[in-house]
Amino acid sequence: MSEFQLYADEFCEADQVDLVGFSCGDTKHGRYCTEWILGPDAMESIANYGTKVWIFRNATGQVVGYGSVGTVRWRWPLPDGGYASLLYIPMLGIDQRFQGQPPDAQWRYSRQIMNHLISEAHQLNCERKKPAEYLLLLVDETNEAAVKLYARFDFELIPVVTRGPGLRVMKHRLR
Ligand SMILES: CC(C)(COP(=O)(O)OP(=O)(O)OC[C@H]1O[C@@H](n2cnc3c(N)ncnc32)[C@H](O)[C@@H]1OP(=O)(O)O)[C@@H](O)C(=O)NCCC(=O)NCCS
Repeated sequence: MSEFQLYADEFCEADQVDLVGFSCGDTKHGRYCTEWILGPDAMESIANYGTKVWIFRNATGQVVGYGSVGTVRWRWPLPDGGYASLLYIPMLGIDQRFQGQPPDAQWRYSRQIMNHLISEAHQLNCERKKPAEYLLLLVDETNEAAVKLYARFDFELIPVVTRGPGLRVMKHRLR
């Protein structure tokens, strides 16, 4: 097994101690993602919406990042369809010390986390009475690392539609 292998644990209150010093960086996106996992949002999303959140650690137990999969109730197809429960990645982030690491792309942490989230989304989708056609997420178009990462995992921007403060919606076909 590679020294770069990540291990996923479902996030719980006890993980907060391991998150001391965790920071996704001093950008707008980085601060937002840091606050989501360090503040009450992650726990509230789990409690109120059944979101699944994982903490990813390396072999020495350091927290490298986190990711999540849940559902949202949006109109589908966007922007004018009927309301539906849709599969969605609410948030993910990598500690700034581990962004772009390791140099060996096969073990890149961002890709390990995306692989995990997509695989979990497929499993959740199989358990649904009415499987979703797409896994969705929101992205700020100026967040180049995120847009490139999602495109690498076959997420496509939905044309024209924006949500919230100028965020674009991306979709990844699940079936
Ligand atoms: C988004 C995030 C998870 C990506 O993880 P990462 O380790 O930085 O990802 P990578 O290094 O694999 O970068 C992804 C791609 O973007 C490129 N990239 C990285 N930083 C970039 C930048 N500033 N400008 C342009 N491209 C960039 C990389 O070269 C890579 O391209 P490749 O797939 O062709 O090699 C991480 O940057 C992060 O946590 N950011 C802050 C929080 C955040 O924005 N979360 C997502 C939205 S909520």
